[in-house]
Amino acid sequence: MFDKIIFMSFLLIILLHKSKSTTVYKCGSKNKEVLNNTLVMFENCTISRCPLKKNSTMHIEIKFKPDFDVKDLITEVYGIVLNIPIPLLGVDKKNVCTNIIEEDGTKKNCPLQKGSTYIYKDDIYIIETYPKFKIDVHWSLKDPISRNVITCFEVPAKIID
Ligand SMILES: *[C@@H]1O[C@H](CO)[C@@H](O)[C@H](O)[C@H]1NC(C)=O
Ligand SMILES: *[C@@H]1O[C@H](CO)[C@@H](O)[C@H](O)[C@H]1NC(C)=O
Ligand SMILES: *[C@@H]1O[C@H](CO)[C@@H](O)[C@H](O)[C@H]1NC(C)=O
Repeated sequence: MFDKIIFMSFLLIILLHKSKSTTVYKCGSKNKEVLNNTLVMFENCTISRCPLKKNSTMHIEIKFKPDFDVKDLITEVYGIVLNIPIPLLGVDKKNVCTNIIEEDGTKKNCPLQKGSTYIYKDDIYIIETYPKFKIDVHWSLKDPISRNVITCFEVPAKIID
């Protein structure tokens, strides 16, 4: 009986977790290869093309595991509209060391250790003036000192009212 309850809760947690995650693709992969070593959760982004609602704040979480020691951490984010990159979301080139927590929720700051799992949390404001285009969001987490890329992914999205 107990076993069953525990099993069901476990299943539920997995399902909830899965249903909240956003499908993302490897940067630069022509045939849209799914990136599976980074767990990405963009608010309300469980369907493909992720709706980005203008004049709203979207909560995001990115769970990653660096494979080198990270001294400093920035995000580089741009949208690709009709093959033209445009800087996006007020997060481009932003230092995010203070937005990092460990898996158990403890606050963390740079440097980050190779092989440990971290979660980057942020709230992104979608500005009012974006045109209502389909847009592919290109997102990377980088160490600006070594210039190494920790993770990089693309999310098909669309700007909506
Ligand atoms: C992750 O993707 C790689 C190829 O990109 C694949 O070889 C591997 O089996 C995948 N792992 C899982 C757990 O899906
Ligand atoms: C943006 O949102 C704020 C608060 O939700 C609202 O007061 C404001 O009127 C909105 N601006 C536009 C241009 O819709
Ligand atoms: C997400 O969806 C909920 C429920 O539909 C809505 O209230 C909220 O404003 C949405 N958030 C964003 C960022 O679109």
